[in-house]
Amino acid sequence: MNIAQRMASIFPTADAIPEKFRLTPIHQTDYLISGELKTWDGPFGEVWSPICCMEQEVPVPIKIGSHPRMNQETCQAALDAAVKAYDHGQGLWPTLPVSERIRHVEEFTWRMKEKRTEVVNLLMWEIGKSLADSEKEFDRTVDYIVDTIDALKELDRVASRFTIQSGILGQIRRAPLGVVLCMGPYNYPLNETFTTLIPALIMGNTVVFKPAKLGILLWGPLLEAFQKAFPPGVVNTVYGEGRTVVGPLMAGGQIDCLAFIGSSKVADTLKHQHPNPHRLRCVLGLDAKNAAIILPDADMEAAVSECVLGALSFNGQRCTALKILFVHASVADEFLKRLVDAVNKLPFGMPWENGVKITPLPVRDKPKQIAEWLEDARLRGANVLNECGGTAQGTYCHPAVVYPITPDMQLYSEEQFGPVIPVIPFTDISEPVRYVVQSNYGQQVSIFGRQSDQIARLVDPLVNQVCRVNINSQCQRGPDSFPFTGRKDSAEGTLSVSDALRVFSIRTLVAAKNTQANRELLTTVIRERQSSFLNTDFIF
Ligand code: G3H
Repeated sequence: MNIAQRMASIFPTADAIPEKFRLTPIHQTDYLISGELKTWDGPFGEVWSPICCMEQEVPVPIKIGSHPRMNQETCQAALDAAVKAYDHGQGLWPTLPVSERIRHVEEFTWRMKEKRTEVVNLLMWEIGKSLADSEKEFDRTVDYIVDTIDALKELDRVASRFTIQSGILGQIRRAPLGVVLCMGPYNYPLNETFTTLIPALIMGNTVVFKPAKLGILLWGPLLEAFQKAFPPGVVNTVYGEGRTVVGPLMAGGQIDCLAFIGSSKVADTLKHQHPNPHRLRCVLGLDAKNAAIILPDADMEAAVSECVLGALSFNGQRCTALKILFVHASVADEFLKRLVDAVNKLPFGMPWENGVKITPLPVRDKPKQIAEWLEDARLRGANVLNECGGTAQGTYCHPAVVYPITPDMQLYSEEQFGPVIPVIPFTDISEPVRYVVQSNYGQQVSIFGRQSDQIARLVDPLVNQVCRVNINSQCQRGPDSFPFTGRKDSAEGTLSVSDALRVFSIRTLVAAKNTQANRELLTTVIRERQSSFLNTDFIF
C-alpha cells in the first residue's frame, strides 16, 4: 500500500480498537478544594479525542468525556483555600519541617504510580501521544519527583549548618514564596505541569493548578492522590476557560508566583493582569523556533536521523523541536534525499500501534493551519518534497518536508508546533547565525559537523543567543538535571531538578551577633527543637 492508501485506512472502526486500550467516556465532575473532592454541578466542557473512528468510511471524531467549566466564584474559592493554607507563611505546610514535606510528596508518588495505566491510556486518547511516549512521560515524571526529593535533601543538608562571618552567626535556608498558580502545556500535560508543581509544593508553597487546554481527564485519577497525600488547601484545582478562570485570579493580586508553560502572548497577558507585577515571581517556558545547522562535512546519516527525531517526535509538538533546518547548499541534495526517505519510512497510525511515530493531532484546526502555511510557501516558490506531505485525513496530517524556505514565507518565522520540516539552503555560515540572532526566540540550536574549529567558531557566538547548543544531536530538554531555559521570548527562569527548587523559593536567614548570650540562646532553640527553620538536622 502506498502512503495515501495507508492514510485512508489510518483510523479504526470502533470494534477494531484493541480491548486493552478502549475508553469509556469519562464525565469528570470532581475538583479539589481545601482537601475536599467536590462535585461540580454547573456547565461542562466537552473533551474530544484526536483519535477518530471510521463510520461509513468517514473518520468521525470521538467524544471521550467532559470536565467542569468552573465559574469565577468557584475558582476564587480554590485560590482562597490556597491562601488560607499558606496563611502568610504561618500555615501548617510552609512551616512543616523539610523531612515532613518530603514524606507527603513520597506518599503522593506511590499513590500516583498506582494510576499509571489509567493516566497513560488517557494521554493517548486526549493528546494522541504514542503508547511508548506516554509511558515515557509518566515514568520520567515519577523519576523527576524522586530526583527532586534527593536534590532537596542535598540542599537542606548544606543549609543545616550555621555560618560565622565577621562576628555574625547565621543560618541561611530557602523559604517558600507563597501561593503558586501552575499551568502546564498540552503537549506534556503531565510532565511539564509536575516539573513546576512538585518543586513548588516541596519548597512549602501552596498551589492552585489548572490543567492545560488538552490533557484534562488524565488529572481525574490523580485528584484522590493529591487529596490523600497533602494537607487541606495545599493543592487545589481549577478547570475551565483560561480567560474566565485565570484572568480574575491574577487580577486579585493574591498569587505570588506564576508557573506557566505556553505561549509568550498568554504569559504577557497574565503578568499584566497582576496589580503588583514587582511582587509576582514568574517561571515561564514559552515559544521557540530552534534551528539546526547542517555543515558541509556533517555525517549525513546521523544528521538526518537526529533531525527527523528533533523535528517530528510527537509530531513536532515539542517546544524543543527543531523547527527550521539550515543545510549547506553543497550537501542540500543529499541531505534532502535522505530526509525524504527517512520521513517516508516513519510508521504512522494510532497511538497504541507498535513502533508508531506519527499520530493524529489534538489541536482541531492544526491540519488546516498547516495547509495554509504550505500554500503560502508554495506560492512563494517552495515545494513539499515527500509523498502526501501536509495532506490530511481527519485529524491526521502527514509530515511535510518543505524546500527551499525563504524569509518571506510564514514557515520561516512561525512556530509551527506540528509535523512540518522547513528546510533552507545556505552558502555562508553568517546566514543561519543571522537567523538565530534576529529571531524572537532564544531556546536552543543544533549544529551538525565534524571539523572542530568550525564547530567551535559557531559555539562561541551561539551560546550568547540561545541557552543550549547541541552538537550532532537534536535539541531537547533532558536530562532533567541540566538547566532548561531560554532567552528573549522563550523563557523566564531556569528549570532543572535543582534549579526548580531555587526558583520556587527565596533565600532567607536568621542572624545574630556572635555573643555568648546569643550562642546559648541558639543552642537551646536547636537542642530543644523549638524551631523548624533553626535546626541542624541532617536528612538522610
Ligand atoms: O515541549 C517542551 C518540552 O520541555 C520538551 O522536552 O525535549 O524532553 O521533549 P523534551
